[in-house]
Amino acid sequence: AIQLAGRHFLKELDFTADEFRGLVELAAGLKAAKKSGNEVQLLRGKNIALIFEKASTRTRCAFEVAAADQGASTTYIDPAGSHIGKKESAKDTARVLGRMFDGIQFRGDAQSTVEELAAYAGVPVFNGLTDRWHPTQMLADVLTMTEHTDKQLERIAFAYLGDARYNMGNSYLVTGALLGMDVRIVAPRAYWPTDDVVALARKAAETSGARITLTESIAEGVGGADFVATDVWVSMGEPQEVWDERIAALGPYSVTMDVLSATGNPDVKFLHCLPAFHDLGTVVGWEIHERHGLTELEVTDEVFESAHSVVFDEAENRLHTIKAVLVATLAPDQIPPRAHRT
Ligand code: CP
Ligand code: NVA
Repeated sequence: AIQLAGRHFLKELDFTADEFRGLVELAAGLKAAKKSGNEVQLLRGKNIALIFEKASTRTRCAFEVAAADQGASTTYIDPAGSHIGKKESAKDTARVLGRMFDGIQFRGDAQSTVEELAAYAGVPVFNGLTDRWHPTQMLADVLTMTEHTDKQLERIAFAYLGDARYNMGNSYLVTGALLGMDVRIVAPRAYWPTDDVVALARKAAETSGARITLTESIAEGVGGADFVATDVWVSMGEPQEVWDERIAALGPYSVTMDVLSATGNPDVKFLHCLPAFHDLGTVVGWEIHERHGLTELEVTDEVFESAHSVVFDEAENRLHTIKAVLVATLAPDQIPPRAHRT
């Protein structure tokens, strides 16, 4: 079993490849235990704070349900509901919440905020998304990949298309690099991860043997891929004014059936962390839809609703993987075999 008691999870590279894989295996075991009615509660009496400076559906609910399943309580702190970042610093907030809670989740803009919380809380801190990384999402994506292929991680090829210089692109690149995968970033050069992120990935790849490709060519990028992933073209916290340039630059990288065909792999699967803009006609009053008349952006509705799409497995897996993070870092005792055996 992995030994992560007391550890923070601020970014993927906080963990070794063995630790990361161990969390994914633990999540698979917890998922099986829950589905068979054999879940063992390892977090009774624990209290977990959930600080959200940005909106969330999946991450919030995954933490709340995971904690409840394991016998822990949560306190949800909404974007307007605490003093953090307004009249109280992250440092002081960390020292207060660390006296009351056993663990703290933070979602917000700055990676520096979650790192400051971790430096002063005295309890494990979990990054539920910043502008730079989305590490709990990566656990869910890797679990989902393992469920939809028989290949070892080192033999999986995946391509990420679209805005790759924000949290999801950064996280996919370093996660693929950490785990020794064949990872392709497919985007206009201006939307590739920044040099510092690429350098982290190349360094990790030296150890893992990962293959890293950054390309503007869709044919090169997706050829032979087992998985194709994308994300929204404008993320939470970015100004609405950038939509026009994003639509112009990233339009050709929309995941269409032609892109899936270009993999040459009839079994290719599609991933998206969600929320996804594939059906904007249903999002009433949504300005981009009304201004551009587009109903599909980073992925077509056809792909999203196709048999290739595993996005709801991926969403469900947020629960099991976040539960694994909580159990591995907060459970006081050795995890009983039944809870982590796959
Ligand atoms: N994928 C993800 O993080 O979703 P939420 O923004 O709903 O938490
Ligand atoms: N890149 C997106 C991911 C949402 C889960 C954002 O930051 O808004």
